Amino acid sequence: YRVAVFASGQGSNFQALVDAAADGRLGGAEVKLLVSDKPAATVVGRAQAAGIESYTFQPKDYATREDYERELVGMLREKEIDLVVLAGYMRLLTSVMVEAFAGRIINIHPSLLPAFPGKDAIGQALHYGVKLSGVTVHFVDGGMDTGPIIAQRAVPLTEETAQESLTAAIQAEERTLYPEVVSWFAEGRVKLEDRKVTVIQR
Ligand code: GRF
Repeated sequence: YRVAVFASGQGSNFQALVDAAADGRLGGAEVKLLVSDKPAATVVGRAQAAGIESYTFQPKDYATREDYERELVGMLREKEIDLVVLAGYMRLLTSVMVEAFAGRIINIHPSLLPAFPGKDAIGQALHYGVKLSGVTVHFVDGGMDTGPIIAQRAVPLTEETAQESLTAAIQAEERTLYPEVVSWFAEGRVKLEDRKVTVIQR
């Protein structure tokens, strides 16, 4: 089972997936490829260090988003990628990617969706004053953090919780949840039917 990770930034989720695969915690899935729209991002160095092939591109080199996505789709097919895992990939996908990999693209978001979609979900949650936030893994559609939800983990807040501590708590949940969800896919245990997600228990 061959996974491609799309990331634009630090890559802590990318690293968690790579580490999980090395420890046999990814259901037999392998991280075959990193795709990044930011050739200078930290995550690209992490892929290099892990010996994982990376494919970087500059969106500004293409006339439209559809143009670079058509190229990505061709490349992902050539490499026989089964699952596209977005991990801090800071771009919306068009119908080119979403339709070519229907039901095979997932994302992780640092809030309990549908609360606080979009950028700075952690800051949004703090500003709103919620007492409970968390992490969501969901299928990707054309919208901003709108696809069917696969799994969520809650992170409680106290009066002392600040941006830094909430970020740390959320990242800790992300590091365990994302590899777990990818292992469910590798084991063929995630079913999607009309927006309804079922995870088959072992
Ligand atoms: C994570 O918080 C993830 O939920 C969000 O972007 C962040 C990426 O962090 N979509 P990293 O690049 O994996 O460290």
